[in-house]
Parts: sequence; C-alpha cells; structure tokens
Amino acid sequence: MGLRPSGVPAVMTSPTPTPSARGLHVITWGCQMNVYDSARMGDVLRPLGYQPVDTPDNADMIILNTCHIRDRAAEKVFSELGRLRLIKEARKAHGQNTVIAVAGCVAQAEGQEILARAPYVDIVLGPQTYHRLPEMVARAARAGGAVIETDFPAEQKFDFLPDTQAPQTPGNHTAFLTIQEGCDKFCSFCVVPYTRGAESSRSVASVLAEARRMAATGVQDISLLGQNVNAYHGEGPDGTIWSLAQLAYALADIPGLSRIRYTTSHPRDMDDTLIAAHRDLPQLMPFLHLPVQSGSDRILKAMNRGHTADDYRDIVRRLRDARPDMALSSDFIVGHPGETDADFEATMQLVHDVGFALAYSFKYSPRPGTPAAGAGMQVPEYVKDARLQALQQVLRAQQDAFNATLVGRSVPVLFTSRGRKPGQITGRSPWLQPIHVTGPETLIGQELSVHVTERLTNSLGGVLEERKVYA
Ligand code: 5AD
Ligand code: SF4
Repeated sequence: MGLRPSGVPAVMTSPTPTPSARGLHVITWGCQMNVYDSARMGDVLRPLGYQPVDTPDNADMIILNTCHIRDRAAEKVFSELGRLRLIKEARKAHGQNTVIAVAGCVAQAEGQEILARAPYVDIVLGPQTYHRLPEMVARAARAGGAVIETDFPAEQKFDFLPDTQAPQTPGNHTAFLTIQEGCDKFCSFCVVPYTRGAESSRSVASVLAEARRMAATGVQDISLLGQNVNAYHGEGPDGTIWSLAQLAYALADIPGLSRIRYTTSHPRDMDDTLIAAHRDLPQLMPFLHLPVQSGSDRILKAMNRGHTADDYRDIVRRLRDARPDMALSSDFIVGHPGETDADFEATMQLVHDVGFALAYSFKYSPRPGTPAAGAGMQVPEYVKDARLQALQQVLRAQQDAFNATLVGRSVPVLFTSRGRKPGQITGRSPWLQPIHVTGPETLIGQELSVHVTERLTNSLGGVLEERKVYA
C-alpha cells in the first residue's frame, strides 16, 4: 500500500558532534518506513564515527532520504540538492569535505538522472542497499566520483544491518519496527513495487529479538511497518512460515509491550486469523489503517486491487464484530484514469457506510512507468480538485465526529512527552489522537486513564484519573 507519507520532512536531531566525530545530517521525506530507514542508516554509519547533527551546515555527510509516491517528487529533490550544493561549496572553501547521498525511492527510480543533473552528489542508493553504505562511503572517498547502488541485492539487508539503536534510545516509549518490505500487488497507480521491489519478510527470530531489545529500553507502543505488512510471511523458528497473526501472538508475550500496531495493510490480506488476533489480544490496538482507495468496483478493478467495495465493507464488519471499539483509517485516490461521477459517488457511499476515524485522500498523480500513467481517460485537474474537496469535507466531518465520541469517556493514554503548555504532558490514545493533561513529567512513560473533557483542533484535552491502566 505504501506507507502513508507524512509530507513533513523529518530531521534526525542531536547536539553538535565532538571534534573527533563526523557530523551526519539526514533529511527524511515520506512514510514511516523512510523514518525507520533513516535511523538505520544512522546505525550503520555510527561505527565510522558519524554522529547526528541538527543542521546540514556543519555536517560531513548529508543524506536525503526521498519519497516518490506522489506529486513532483524529483523536482523537490533537485531543489533541495541545489541548497545542499551551496553548503558543500561553502564548506569546501574552508577545506572541509561534505559527502552528499541521495537515498530512498527517488534514488531508486531516477538514480542516473540525479547523477547527470547533480554531479556534486557522491552516493545514490536505493532502499535495499543501506547495509552497504559504509563501503559506499569508502568507495566514494577513493574514487573521487559518484557511487550508485540501486540494484536489488540477493542478500537481505536486514541480515547485514547492525542492531537498531537510534529509534529506541532509552526514554522513547514508541518505536517503529520494519518487518516486511516491498510489494507484489502492482496496483495500477503505484510506484512501490518498482522502487521497493518484491515482497520480502524478515525472520520471526530477528523481529522478536528487535522487539525485545526495544521493550528492554522502555518501548511500550510498537508499530510494525511494511508496505504490505499483513502479507507478512516470515520464517519461523520451527522452519514454517509465520503469518502476521502468529507474529502478533508472539509479540504480545513480550513483557512491557502493551500496544502493538501494524501498518500498512491490504484488504486482500486481512484474513480470519488476523481478525481473530484482534479479538484475542488486548495489545493489538483497535485502530487499523486499511486503505481502500476507491468505493467503485469498476475503478477498484482498473486499479488492480483484487477486492470489491463490498469485500471491504465485509472486512470492516468482521473486524468490528471481533473488536467492537475498532476504528478505521484509510487512503483514497480521486481521479484515477476512467473515474466517472458515478464512480466517485460510489466512493462517497462507501465512506458514508464505513465511517472513518481518519483518512488521507489524494488526487491521482501519474507515476512514470506505472500502468495507469499511460492509460487513456485521464481525469482533468479541475474535476480531481472538486472531488478531493468534496471527499475531504466528509472525511474531516467523520474524523471530528469520531473524536467527539471520546469526549466524556475514560481513555487509556500512554504519556510520551511534555505538552506544549507548561505543566502539561501529552500522550496518545489507542486510536492515536494526542491527548493533553495537566500533570508532572514523571508520568511520562506511564499508561494512565484520562477522562477526556474537550476536543481541540487536532487533539483532545482531559484530566488524569486516579486509576492506573498498566503498572
Ligand atoms: N497518486 C495518488 N496517490 C497515490 N498513492 C499511491 N500512489 C499514488 C498516486 N500515483 C496513495 C495511495 C496509497 C498512499 C500511500 O499514497 O492512496 O495508499
Ligand atoms: Fe500498496 Fe498497491 Fe502500492 Fe502495493 S502496489 S504498495 S498494495 S498501493
């Protein structure tokens, strides 16, 4: 499904390095998996002396971790590279070298173009080759020319990456854990199968080991990541292939992990065992990101989604039977080639029928090399605009209505940080809404019951209740 791009560049921050260390600045665009990958690139470079720094200006190495899922991805990369070039030149004038690396899905899709248009780039690497970064850095230094690695190596990068460190340093109570990558589904509009490659799953043993390490450092809320996470099929300790449901039961046995989430799922892989796990495991959070993309069977077929709108309704019904407080989040695309007014109305009907707690909606954006990009019957931009606006209005109202249902209720909140206002702390509900209360910072890291009193623009406010939710 691709993971939902955040749209907000995220930056790994940390103090200025000691003089002996080398500064690393990673700029991350796109989905949670890119955020995870950026942290892992930091991990592989740490033994070489690289420490994260706040700004590119004093970095010896700058990595641009890119996303290609929609819009003018390549142009954004080139404009950012223009800025980085100036930094590189300024540092060079002071006798300092700056290694510029472009990683992620734009690097995978447009590697040669990047080197042609931005010859000051030292390294171009696709998402499957991060474990080779130290060797690439050495090669770039030796060669004095650019190094490009955008193949899909035979070895699995996870087998070659060091143990994770950055995402779950002590004090972090939530963490991402990539368990699966790539996609074989080839939805008509999507670039992921071409940039992230074929579906592959990490072994159960390596996932459990990483989860245990995370829990040992205080992580309580873990999000399992994968472009098609519920297609997970990792080799189990007994040599059989485990499903995501089996993995969830094993993760639920790890002491301290009180919240388990997974994203992003495909409706086709939402099987009975996984739905049963939602019934059996209180740790599996009642909030699922399950993109449907469209409510029209005709368009779902053109999209090569492999399910109908009623299949989706049926999955939602079974999920809610298993876990009555289950809330749904989704992705929608308006204006896929061939989408008529009637098709769009079918999407609006599905939205009405399901009721989403959260949703992301996008105008279809042709991705070079994907089947839909070359298809006829492209929908005019003004039609896409109007449909997007209508859809977003309804989705926003549903989100507000869902948040309103929590007002007046007691909700378990895992406190993770100080609030914006002095004396406040902030945490997340099981449905991921930020909830602010007045309370001491010593409560950060605890999961406590909060009486929700008000709905704010993008969050909720409440008061702490006496009763502890988890020890
Ligand atoms: N145009 C618009 N939206 C897209 N997405 C993926 N590819 C495209 C595209 N070409 C959306 C889908 C997906 C989410 C991550 O991004 O809704 O679920
Ligand atoms: Fe998701 Fe389809 Fe893209 Fe695969 S091809 S990542 S299932 S949207």
